[in-house]
Amino acid sequence: QRPIVRLLSCPGTVAKDLRRDEQPSGSVETGFEDKIPKRRFSEMQNERREQAQRTVLIHCPEKISENKFLKYLSQFGPINNHFFYESFGLYAVVEFCQKESIGSLQNGTHTPSTAMETAIPFRSRFFNLKLKNQTSERSRVRSSNQLPRSNKQLFELLCYAESIDDQLNTLLKEFQLTEENTKLRYLTCSLIEDIAAAYFPDCIVRPFGSSVNTFGKLGCDLDMFLDLDETRNLSAHKTSGNFLMEFQVKNVPSERIATQKILSVLGECLDHFGPGCVGVQKILNARCPLVRFSHQASGFQCDLTTNNRIALTSSELLYIYGALDSRVRALVFSIRCWARAHSLTSSIPGAWITNFSLTMMVIFFLQRRSPPILPTLDSLKTLADAEDKCVIEGNNCTFVRDLSRIKPSQNTETLELLLKEFFEYFGNFAFDKNSINIRQGREQNKPDSSPLYIQNPFETSLNISKNVSQSQLQKFVDLARESAWILQQEDIDRPSISSNRPWGLVSLLLPSPPNRKSFTKKKSNKFAIETVKNLLESLKGNRTENFTKTSGK
Ligand code: CTP
Ligand code: MG
Repeated sequence: QRPIVRLLSCPGTVAKDLRRDEQPSGSVETGFEDKIPKRRFSEMQNERREQAQRTVLIHCPEKISENKFLKYLSQFGPINNHFFYESFGLYAVVEFCQKESIGSLQNGTHTPSTAMETAIPFRSRFFNLKLKNQTSERSRVRSSNQLPRSNKQLFELLCYAESIDDQLNTLLKEFQLTEENTKLRYLTCSLIEDIAAAYFPDCIVRPFGSSVNTFGKLGCDLDMFLDLDETRNLSAHKTSGNFLMEFQVKNVPSERIATQKILSVLGECLDHFGPGCVGVQKILNARCPLVRFSHQASGFQCDLTTNNRIALTSSELLYIYGALDSRVRALVFSIRCWARAHSLTSSIPGAWITNFSLTMMVIFFLQRRSPPILPTLDSLKTLADAEDKCVIEGNNCTFVRDLSRIKPSQNTETLELLLKEFFEYFGNFAFDKNSINIRQGREQNKPDSSPLYIQNPFETSLNISKNVSQSQLQKFVDLARESAWILQQEDIDRPSISSNRPWGLVSLLLPSPPNRKSFTKKKSNKFAIETVKNLLESLKGNRTENFTKTSGK
């Protein structure tokens, strides 16, 4: 089970327990707020990586004088930024202004010695702060919970929203990654990079997937990949005169075996030497071999892969789609949340639709609107310049990276309409015949008999939803139809906000009535409303249950 991560605020960093939209987000543009990020993905990644390299993670005593703590650390160098969070204890993330300060801090740090156990010495950037003597000035640092709200709080907020559009935007604000959570994700990758660098000094551990593509929900896993391109490319620059020097290396029969060997060693290394890395599992026979582990201090479930540049490129593509129109992320978050509420998605791998597939379906749907809300991948390719040219393992991954070169959409449809139309569209989609293709933005004949076929945008011979079974697809279609119907009924019989009845998005997030097949009958509408009312009441009683417990990632 994932540890609960609560972030604790510092003055000027995050406010206390306010609505998240009222929080000052600090001076840094995050790319995850409701404003549209204008920076290139690579710029954002480089900046955050550099920030993370100047940052340390410190396990602190439960009660601490924040001023003294900062004063103590400042003797090693000026501090740029800091915050506290809770995850099985109190932790501080401290960003120095200069990377060199970390060396000074490490030089003043001891390896612990205990009578019962022996420490494996490792000079990491993850520290443990002990107090020499008890002082009376210590107090609890102020806290701000960074997990999504409980069901009850979320549903209440949504019920008091002014419109369905407002509900979708509220859900986005509640669930999106915060600035601190994003920083913690980059720091975790940077700490893992330190361990991998023992073998591969020029490696980079890069986050990808929902941690960086702007579609991540608080509590989502941390996908990272070990980038060895620097090590590979070193020899290319080192030619001089008549001589060509090559490193002596071991050779293996395939790229896959090389990947498995590298990940196997790193898995061992994380398991044996990685501070805070627990539950290390080597899943090397998967299509994309990986090492899965929990990073206890940050609370993240991590998936480490190598050689996964295409997945990083698809994260970049999603980042661009998420930035082009403010409706995109609001719709994706609500659809993901709807799917999780009805167990269409799961944190356990299986025959379920994944969040990644759902995001592709929303993008495709938005490409199909008239006028389109999102451009096709092919049109993003035509806008590309020489700098954007990119071929990875023979796959053309060229598309425009500069957001300002993409024309905004002329479409003015509301989120309410789009939500309804999304359910209508996929409730009636010819899944038996057609595949979903965001490259061309139109349906195509399915190349095989997989129940759901969503073409991988870059490895175009792959289906990203190959795992989905016919029964899971059917469940999706039934629920989409039911949701379209619920929204249609509300148009006729719209509950007033003061009636305290679940409405709009809330009605869609509550479990379906048992006799789903009869949802087209007027009689069952009353039943559905009664059921959701009762469920809402029971949820109100359950204060402590957190939405993530039932909804996972
Ligand atoms: N990916 C892919 N093809 C798949 C599955 C995943 O290319 N069939 C890539 C995508 O770039 C995806 C990333 O791997 O974003 C991480 O996969 P996953 O963790 O399953 O999805 P996320 O987008 O990170 O969503 P979640 O929040 O559910 O983790
Ligand atoms: Mg993920």
